[in-house]
Amino acid sequence: MSPGDDRFGDAPYEGPLLAVTDIKTYFETDRGLVRSVDGVSLTLERGKTIGIVGESGSGKTVLARSIMGLLPKRGVVRDGSVKFEGQEFIGIKPKDMRAFWGAQMSMIFQDPMTSLNPVMKVGNQITESIRQHLDVSRSFANELAENLLESVRIPEPRKRLSEYPHQLSGGMRQRVCIAVALACGPKLLFADEPTTALDVTVQAQVLDLMAAQQRERFMAMVLVTHDLGVVAGRADDIAVMYAGRIVEKAPTKTLFANMKMPYTEALLSSIPKLDDKSHTRLATIPGRPPDLVHPPKGCKFAPRCAYVQDKCHEEEPPLTDAGGGHQYRCWFPVGTPEGAAALEKNRKAGAAAASALTVEAEA
Ligand SMILES: Nc1ncnc2c1ncn2[C@@H]1O[C@H](COP(=O)(O)OP(=O)(O)OP(=O)(O)O)[C@@H](O)[C@H]1O
Ligand SMILES: [Mg+2]
Repeated sequence: MSPGDDRFGDAPYEGPLLAVTDIKTYFETDRGLVRSVDGVSLTLERGKTIGIVGESGSGKTVLARSIMGLLPKRGVVRDGSVKFEGQEFIGIKPKDMRAFWGAQMSMIFQDPMTSLNPVMKVGNQITESIRQHLDVSRSFANELAENLLESVRIPEPRKRLSEYPHQLSGGMRQRVCIAVALACGPKLLFADEPTTALDVTVQAQVLDLMAAQQRERFMAMVLVTHDLGVVAGRADDIAVMYAGRIVEKAPTKTLFANMKMPYTEALLSSIPKLDDKSHTRLATIPGRPPDLVHPPKGCKFAPRCAYVQDKCHEEEPPLTDAGGGHQYRCWFPVGTPEGAAALEKNRKAGAAAASALTVEAEA
């Protein structure tokens, strides 16, 4: 019996669809413990979308896999709580977890070729999942698969069912992955950089398609991306990750109107501008993310931050609640008098250092 199932007279579950509390996922390596996800909490209601945004290596995929229970068996230290419709996933037997995959929650991966079987026809890949979870005949599953391909706007769906993944374009393959993920009508869909491998126009089409399916099915979605621009108009809430932690979280409008974390500001300024002819990133954030085996003592972003002060290297800022679901970790937040003073102080110090260098060079 699954949670929320009221066959035996239980009241339907009324809490959030997903409640993640202080989860930690560490990997044991020769170098020491890699703290990939280090105390993340979030909730997601039915039908809503949360965007998880952060640079490469910030822990987005490990977070998604930790929630879905898709982690290696050995060398993983896990802590915290992941509740799906009130059912605790941490510590659950793999056999019991399997019942949730596909039917209750599913995942679309970054590279469609890694999740599709190259030697299996498209149709069979969809019907396999349907027949595993739903007690239906082969012909009904085939019909369902054809309808699914049609709903993800694949032309000539019947013909495509008997083709292999390599016969389809990248965009079509990603649509097949979406069809596979939707096959059993999951309540929650994880999309891990679902469009990064696609070109810009196809990216927008695939994201729009996912949004349309989501609305139609009242499905919740965790949309993982390194690009704040991708989630801007698509997520209800955004969580910004850095070095395994959420450093800012807010409803999307609040985040864009009133971001507090210098890291979020830096991510925003690294979005490629549409009118930029070269279509390359205008700015990347200088410096590199910290070593997750030996992270810095204070704020993890301090070594790269334009607002940094001595305190930031000493003490890690706690998660501050700004109200209205907005939280952030910063001692000198963007848009505050303390933040403005810190930025100005660093600007003056930078200018003084630059002019000292010039004097030195001229002497
Ligand atoms: N099995 C593993 N063993 C050791 N370290 C790992 C393992 N899997 C991930 N990591 C480390 O955990 C950190 C977070 O990785 P993760 O894949 O979640 O990043 P990401 O935010 O998804 O990055 P990207 O945008 O490149 O996909 C990285 O430092 C990575 O090297
Ligand atoms: Mg990733």
